[in-house]
Amino acid sequence: MGDRGGVSRAWYPNERANAGPEHLDAEYVAGYDVKTQLELEDALSLLRRHGLGSGTTFVDLGCGTGLVAAAAAGEARRVVGVDPSPAMLELARGRSDAVEWIEAGFLTYDHAGDPPRLVHSRHALHHLADFWKGVALARLHDLLAPGGVLVLRDLVYDFEPGDADRRIEEWLAGAARTPAEGWTRGELETHVCSEHSTFTWLFEPLLAHAGFEIVERDVRGGIYATYVCRRS
Ligand SMILES: C[S@@+](CC[C@H](N)C(=O)[O-])C[C@H]1O[C@@H](n2cnc3c(N)ncnc32)[C@H](O)[C@@H]1O
Repeated sequence: MGDRGGVSRAWYPNERANAGPEHLDAEYVAGYDVKTQLELEDALSLLRRHGLGSGTTFVDLGCGTGLVAAAAAGEARRVVGVDPSPAMLELARGRSDAVEWIEAGFLTYDHAGDPPRLVHSRHALHHLADFWKGVALARLHDLLAPGGVLVLRDLVYDFEPGDADRRIEEWLAGAARTPAEGWTRGELETHVCSEHSTFTWLFEPLLAHAGFEIVERDVRGGIYATYVCRRS
């Protein structure tokens, strides 16, 4: 990775290479929509409550196959879907030509035009280690218009380290039986072992430090977190 703004990016992670090997695999991506278990209507109504509308510029970071961005395109003034995976974006592009699809990530996306009033990200930020989550959240803060809203959904562990064995085992016990139905035990084990989901009590100070006020918080099952954050 080269220089940006006079800063060497040699020590930045390569977001495409670290996007998760499965997300770069066209065969896996072709079956992704079923796996992701997105409740699209619920996701859209949350976004509508927080500013999605005909005057809104909306950015979805880590948009994957573009389910949310494509659906939002009918309701917003401008929608940008951003993901570092070419395979994800190829599928997304086929879904809608009303969205601007950009190959980039949290650390590399440069927005042009009016700043967004609404930024969304679901199940993507855990691809970055905590140091980089801090950098990414600072970038999201700078990206948003003043008073704008970040709807951030991710797997974040809402329990104490001493409870981790029990809580993770409880989660794994409810895994899908086959990869076609959802995330299997093996896939969830890989998530815990190799990806960068962190504790809520580490993540929430990162949000606050970046300048976000958490206005809504829900952590389903102690793992599936939704934060609605206002940019100060
Ligand atoms: C589990 S998928 C979620 C996709 C979609 N948001 C959804 O909810 O179905 C994770 C997505 O994050 C993307 N991703 C990985 N690293 C990223 C990064 N550094 N910046 C932005 N997106 C990233 C992957 O390419 C993948 O599309």
